[in-house]
Amino acid sequence: MSDTTATPAANKPAWLHNAVGYEVYVRSFADSTGNGIGDLMGITERLEYLAWLGVDIVWITPCYPSPMADHGYDVADYVDVEPIFGDLEAMQELIGRAHELGLKVVLDIVPNHSSDQHRWFRAAVEDPSGPYRDYYLWRDPAPGGGPPNNWVAHFGGPAWTLDEASGQYYCHLFLPEQPDLNWRNPALRAEFEQTLEFWFERGIDGFRIDVAHALIKDSEFRDNPQIADLAGITHPREQFRCFEHRYDLQQSESLEIYRAWRRIAERYDTALIGETYVLDSAGLADLVPGDGLHLGFWFAPMTMPWTAPDIEQTLRETSERLGDRVGWVQSSHDESRPATRFGGGERGRRRSLAFAAMLFGLPGVPFIYQGEELGLEDGDVPPELRSDPIATRNVGAVGRDVCRTPMPWEPGHNLGFSNADETWLPLGHDAEDSVAVQRQNPEAHVHKMRSLLRFRRQLSDLDPAVTWTEAPAGVVAFRRGDHLFVLNANDEAVTMTPGGTWSVVHRTGVGQTPDSSETILLEGAETVVAKHTA
Ligand code: GLC
Repeated sequence: MSDTTATPAANKPAWLHNAVGYEVYVRSFADSTGNGIGDLMGITERLEYLAWLGVDIVWITPCYPSPMADHGYDVADYVDVEPIFGDLEAMQELIGRAHELGLKVVLDIVPNHSSDQHRWFRAAVEDPSGPYRDYYLWRDPAPGGGPPNNWVAHFGGPAWTLDEASGQYYCHLFLPEQPDLNWRNPALRAEFEQTLEFWFERGIDGFRIDVAHALIKDSEFRDNPQIADLAGITHPREQFRCFEHRYDLQQSESLEIYRAWRRIAERYDTALIGETYVLDSAGLADLVPGDGLHLGFWFAPMTMPWTAPDIEQTLRETSERLGDRVGWVQSSHDESRPATRFGGGERGRRRSLAFAAMLFGLPGVPFIYQGEELGLEDGDVPPELRSDPIATRNVGAVGRDVCRTPMPWEPGHNLGFSNADETWLPLGHDAEDSVAVQRQNPEAHVHKMRSLLRFRRQLSDLDPAVTWTEAPAGVVAFRRGDHLFVLNANDEAVTMTPGGTWSVVHRTGVGQTPDSSETILLEGAETVVAKHTA
């Protein structure tokens, strides 16, 4: 059973308190070399923008040598930089410049699987009796032939591929080019601990840990209980949901790994942030108990319908169970953008900003994904230009390219992203969406997000206790100390009379409320933060 009382994590880096993160998808942020693909030098050139915006942490998606079967989430060497993205020196410059600007740098580590081109996997295939074989998960075929169990891969098909030479299958929860590592092997654990130190010695401030909920698998590789019929289901995500993932995900032995990592991280005052794709709060709390991962991402907002009860339910239980151990997100390089999901156009943008203000009011660390501050919607990527393996290897799946189109920086060639003739994904946005155009317009989304980020800085000393309060229909509200955070999920204006006198200290819309009043007036799709005055 999980403890439902949220306690702040001990020994966490002081800089994590009240911080806000920003996710950079390296391929699509800024291309400095003119090959149509973003790189580290491009990020370094744009760090001033992130400092201007007011974020504290920059998380950079994987930039290690990779054959790019999954755009870098298939790592061929954990202690080097992919030549397309730069080199170790470019990384050092990035870290140095970020630190000068007061920004922390978080790298993305991918410990669940490597690339099939990693030297460990090559050796495991070439020499089945050698030491690297046990770095991966090998099983004999099922008694009647075929894969050893019924596990399915996130990107479609079975989670097993046959190595014909040895007659054994290897496990992969993602692509066949992403063989899963064997976290029960102490030698593998030692390799990763050295990898953490390698990067911490170079000044990295933390890691976002890819697929942090899946490193350990059931030691007996038992079948997962099937809970729905697979017939006619072609989308890999829906196939995945046909099973209860009792044996491939969320095995409690993973906690030991993160406790060992925590001891290393504490020596460097660095943070461990898990990509914990666990959609129930109790399961998330089990995975982030406070002595391992500093934060676990909570992904339920990515699939949340836009209604007040859904919004409250999505935030409340997780906040109550995890306190400041949550990484709050509403967008990432894996999901349709929130402005699109929440209704598109101005309405979707307003809703996304209002929701961000609620996340910013809760204990924990909110992360915004590049372009969220511009209110970007999904980019249009025609089927023949799609690049994500979910789209290219499955019939009828749109995939994740729509949220990965290049960052629009300024009007002109490739919207300032790249000098190349062609960019790796088509441009998904217009010049009016770009950073430069928005910066010139005080009413633009980027200024609203910047103002929210500034406001968040003032909340550093706010009481960590959150009290969810009664609110009119379609409204979600919580109190922290003398502050009240209220989101109006309705499209129409409403009023709220919480008792006492209140002054509005921040709002995501443009409406006017008297300086001090017993009634708080909320526009449609707006969050207002008010301070109790009497
Ligand atoms: C995570 C990443 C995703 C990647 C997958 C496999 O979910 O966010 O982009 O494809 O892991 O590494």
